[in-house]
Amino acid sequence: MKIGNVEIPSGLILGPMAGVTDFAFRKICREFGLEMSYTEMVSSKGIYYKDKKTMSLLRIGKDEHPVGVQIFGSDPFFMSEAVKRVQDTVEYEILDINMGCPTPKIVNNGDGSALLKDIDKARKILEAVKSASHKPVSVKIRIGWTDSDGIIDFVKMLEDSGADAIAVHGRTREQMYTGKADWDTIKNIKSEVNIPVIGNGDIYTLDDAIRRTDESGVDGIMIARGTRGNPWLIRDIISYLKTGMKPDKPNANEVRDVIMRHLLYAIENKGEHRAIVELRKHVGWYIKGYKNAAQIRNKINKSSDIEEFKNYINELLDN
Ligand SMILES: Cc1cc2nc3c(=O)[nH]c(=O)nc-3n(C[C@H](O)[C@H](O)[C@H](O)COP(=O)(O)O)c2cc1C
Repeated sequence: MKIGNVEIPSGLILGPMAGVTDFAFRKICREFGLEMSYTEMVSSKGIYYKDKKTMSLLRIGKDEHPVGVQIFGSDPFFMSEAVKRVQDTVEYEILDINMGCPTPKIVNNGDGSALLKDIDKARKILEAVKSASHKPVSVKIRIGWTDSDGIIDFVKMLEDSGADAIAVHGRTREQMYTGKADWDTIKNIKSEVNIPVIGNGDIYTLDDAIRRTDESGVDGIMIARGTRGNPWLIRDIISYLKTGMKPDKPNANEVRDVIMRHLLYAIENKGEHRAIVELRKHVGWYIKGYKNAAQIRNKINKSSDIEEFKNYINELLDN
């Protein structure tokens, strides 16, 4: 798949997840063969006002290319100014506009998936971003606000206004994360536009990835929640595309090693204290299904000491 001039041979993209796909986790995913990732969503106003926390979300690894910066907002001025600023300060290849986030905090400001309800505003934002951006621009959407009735008009507008690719999460805003992703609508969108369409929603296994790609004809797929605690899913997909083979599931040793590296990268990025706190949720995902997972989780949730943390992880036992 190609987005503008950016080549993504596997067509596989790690979906942005605020609070999850940070610098450290994305670094882990790259080690498993990932070719394309996005930053967590970053506020255009935060960038404009140089908010420190916002700017820290824009840290990108030396080896993390190509990479996309995802911004959100609903004011064409702040959106285009944010693009100019990131262009001056960050090395990245694709600019992505978030038109899919469903959380009340975001949509109540008219941002994220609220833009699906206002095609004229969405067009103005995309036009403003396109005229400011020297890089390809992708847009991430859901299939609608309460239903998918107007989505074909919406994606045609995106194409006509210069979007270089569209990533579609097959749920409406109303659904939040309930129900199932509607891949029929994703397939329909793919058949109506000529720019690359990236399908997204409920891909948890290699088989899901193969089936969804074949059935919908999308140019690429994006996986998000399926990678939490399971960057091996990325390895499985990449390896299958390259060799047709499916690697074995990781054993406890490999899981331990990855948790330790993840911790190391998180410390490097955020310091010891925050790294430990943030790793807790990741560890919960990594060790799910293991024999002594509950005990390890309990211990880790109570500890703020790096050495203790490592000792507890070393207790992970194979099933
Ligand atoms: C905790 C969490 C945070 C998310 N943050 C973002 C975000 O910052 N930007 C975005 O476009 N989508 C975000 N998403 C949506 C995912 O990128 C993806 O579209 C959605 O989870 C469906 O894909 P999946 O079924 O593979 O998880 C988030 C999802 C979750 C669960």
